[in-house]
Amino acid sequence: MRIYKLRTNHIENPLGFELNRLSLSWVTEAAGSTSTFQTEAQVQVALDEDFHHIIFDSGKKQEIDSLGYTPEVELQPRTRYYWRVTVWGNEGDKVTSDSAWFETAKMNEPWRGQWITPDLDKDIHPLIRKTFSLPDNVVSARLYMCGLGLYEVEINGEKAGNEYLTPGFNAYEFWMQYQSYDITDLLMAGTNSIGITLGNGWYKGRFGFDGGHYELYSDRFAVIGEIIATLKDGTTVVIGTNQEWKCAPSPIIFSGIYDGEIYDANKGLKDWSSPGFDDRNWEQVRPMKVETERLQARISLPMQIKEERKPLKVIHTPAGETVLDMGQNMTGWMRFINRAPKGQKLILQYGEILQDGNFYRDNLRTAKAEYIFISDGKEKIIQPRFTFYGFRYVKITGFDKDLNINDFTGCVLYSDIEEIGTIETSNPSVNQLFKNALWGQKGNFLDVPTDCPQRDERMGWTGDAQIFASTACYNMYSPAFYNKFMVDLHEEQKRIGGSVPFMVPTIKPEGDNGFITGNGSSAWGDAATIIPWILYLHYGDKELLRKQFDTMKDWVDYIKKMDDESGAVRLWRTGFHFGDWLALDGDDPSGLTGATDPYYIASAYYCYSAQLTAKAAKILGKMDLAEEYSLLANEVRKAIVREYFTPDGRCAIDTQTALIVALYFDLVPEHYRARLVEDLKVKLRNNKMHLQTGFVGTPYFCNTLSANGASDYAYTLLLNDDYPSWLYGVKLGATTVWERWNSVLPDGSISDTGMNSLNHYAYGSIAEWMYRYMCGINPIEDSPGFRKIILRPQPYGKLKYAKASLNSASGYIESSWEIKEDGTLSFKFIIPFNTSADLLLPNTLINEVTVNGISLAKSMVDATQVEEDVKCELISGTYIFEYVPNKEYLLTYSSYDSIGELLNNKESREIFSEIFPEIANSKFRVYRHSKNTVRELSTLPIVSHFVTPEKLEQLDRKLSNISWSNTTSTVSIKQKTIFHDL
Ligand code: BGC
Repeated sequence: MRIYKLRTNHIENPLGFELNRLSLSWVTEAAGSTSTFQTEAQVQVALDEDFHHIIFDSGKKQEIDSLGYTPEVELQPRTRYYWRVTVWGNEGDKVTSDSAWFETAKMNEPWRGQWITPDLDKDIHPLIRKTFSLPDNVVSARLYMCGLGLYEVEINGEKAGNEYLTPGFNAYEFWMQYQSYDITDLLMAGTNSIGITLGNGWYKGRFGFDGGHYELYSDRFAVIGEIIATLKDGTTVVIGTNQEWKCAPSPIIFSGIYDGEIYDANKGLKDWSSPGFDDRNWEQVRPMKVETERLQARISLPMQIKEERKPLKVIHTPAGETVLDMGQNMTGWMRFINRAPKGQKLILQYGEILQDGNFYRDNLRTAKAEYIFISDGKEKIIQPRFTFYGFRYVKITGFDKDLNINDFTGCVLYSDIEEIGTIETSNPSVNQLFKNALWGQKGNFLDVPTDCPQRDERMGWTGDAQIFASTACYNMYSPAFYNKFMVDLHEEQKRIGGSVPFMVPTIKPEGDNGFITGNGSSAWGDAATIIPWILYLHYGDKELLRKQFDTMKDWVDYIKKMDDESGAVRLWRTGFHFGDWLALDGDDPSGLTGATDPYYIASAYYCYSAQLTAKAAKILGKMDLAEEYSLLANEVRKAIVREYFTPDGRCAIDTQTALIVALYFDLVPEHYRARLVEDLKVKLRNNKMHLQTGFVGTPYFCNTLSANGASDYAYTLLLNDDYPSWLYGVKLGATTVWERWNSVLPDGSISDTGMNSLNHYAYGSIAEWMYRYMCGINPIEDSPGFRKIILRPQPYGKLKYAKASLNSASGYIESSWEIKEDGTLSFKFIIPFNTSADLLLPNTLINEVTVNGISLAKSMVDATQVEEDVKCELISGTYIFEYVPNKEYLLTYSSYDSIGELLNNKESREIFSEIFPEIANSKFRVYRHSKNTVRELSTLPIVSHFVTPEKLEQLDRKLSNISWSNTTSTVSIKQKTIFHDL
């Protein structure tokens, strides 16, 4: 056995984080052992790495849970604790982990440093410095610091830590975070110096909706810090910020989240943060009172350069511009080597797409998104500090004509979260779609889960965060990241009676600039209940739910209050709601909220949020509340049925989203379900198998279809590649998911500049369906964190194979399927140690299945026949199941496929053209690009004379040899690739 991924509050070896209540977790893998589950475990916490000073020992206990264990330890400030775990397996073997650690920050210790502000004009970016001396017997040293708006700190000329954009973005008026740095190795005996650079950031620069506001939280730069050096004899030397620190104007002459940065290297001061620097001419700083309720140890994960990419190529555009193509829409900035002569201005401007081959960024609205560097003639590495950009293309001006592409590096910046999930299929477009969703996460997980990273917005829109949360939790290990967001959400909520702002942190002051920052929209506010629930399902730590329970409850109480005040009697029928945001079925083509009645949606989420709160209460042992919220959910459900459904189960709101929501949120009596599923299928067929949904319907669409036996419909939606569909963007060369189904038109032109981001992760939520249904890996609420896995892979003949892997909280899971040429279905599963899986193998009989080469009936696997499928109980191990299914999985082309699809595949096109040359060669595009089937066309009078039953039969006969699974794209729209080929 092997134990790895020891995490404290879901972070590996956290230094200086808020640790008010500990939750320790780890993963055990069998690694050759025959043990399959844990019988007992023991956790020890010590003050030293060798465990001589053990301060907590759980003893050997059965109930110790690897998903979250809270040792009762009273923590001291600024102390490093070591912990390890021993696990006993059911075969009697045991293993002890390596040690992990966590280190507390200042906790309740008073600050000896004080807030200071430079005595300079408020708009002048400052440098702040101080020299100090230390004896030669320092054994360790920490720096605790917070700088406003953003700061970077250097000790003796070297940057402390490897993170950017500190202290991050939170609701600054309620709480602020200080970071802790281990600076032991940066210090020396004798004279040392500390230097701080400050930038505007979210706090002080332009930020907010509709053009934004300046100085949202304050107009002053400020910093507080404290170096605590521990000497050999255990005593400490403290150097805190105070009036003796000095300041001077910085070479950064401008900075802003939206607009970028301007750096004049000629104003640079050589070695300004080194001890020998003469700061006699520098100004004094002054003390300042910072208006915030509290300054506390960080919760935010560090934002780091997680990846580096080289430009794919340099493009010389028709307009004469020089543009670097990064080949990927990403968030961060370019690092480059300055080789320009003194005084030369280098400009880097960032955009997402080219238009007519030229650089373009009108869709960033007012965001300037640029970096200007004025050279001092010295060759050195340059990168911005207090901004970030969402981009694929970088227009560069002022650089040498024959520039060296290797001088440029794209730095991909996001919060320090780990990728844990992968998806791969036989269809490259689907694989690209998955990657696009993943890049959407990388590009929008900068401390706050943002809507988009490029235009003058970049905010924590709660709806977007809620929609994407489950996908995010599959893709990356996200509990600590969301924990910070939820802390902010609750802080905001406390001040508005339990309602939830549209975006968190919300943008204040309200009402300024004609824009009122709102709150209380359904689907957006439900981030309060849905995100904690998803975190619990995925990571299984009750602590995650316990922390957010009030958040959940307060939101539902708020809705109930709206309901009670309006007299709607268990419906939510008041206020503004975003509805099915950006759905395509609204009457007004320029409208944004779709056709589904927003109050139906609001009531549906009311019911769902009450259900989730009831479930959470039950899990936390709050039985009275569980009862209360479950009753409430039932009352809302009844009211919805009364108001929106006929007695025979027809939904009064005739939209895809209305049906999806009813099924997904379980709003209707069981006997209505079959009808609703059928109605949804009919709607889809009537719409030529295309979705019309927005932010509410889309994330649940395929999940709902698959959960109700209509995976073939879900796969059709997945594989469509004409507008509106997921693969439409992929086909046009997208490398991230777009905000709108038609953000870019088939001719490559951008559809709108007002609200059109090419990196908006909301619709990337299709990746959740890939994990859950295509590959079948599902968590379950009774045994969350994948301790028990519900395995329901759903093979489909338009793909040859699909594979998912997940480094879950319980360990490494794999699930894949393949449809072999002879029609055999082959599945592979890896089930981690100490977990089990409930697997359903579709369309077979026990006797027909082999597992790892032997007959399932004779194997050790517990199997039962459940109607047409075989159910297996799997314990930890690797399994290969094979059988020839009772249903044909290999799909061949037929006259029931659309004309577009038949013309898109080379072989089927030849056959089709031979039998129906009138259609294939028609000058009417409507034939050639049709989403109709040739069978449907046969009913048209002008066509019926050449589409005869005999010809249809002939077509089907010939097509029956052509397998769908070899096809990589499905619908023929010949589109111009507007992005350069990768
Ligand atoms: C954002 C969203 C958000 C929406 C709310 C947009 O500007 O980009 O994705 O949820 O507004 O209406």
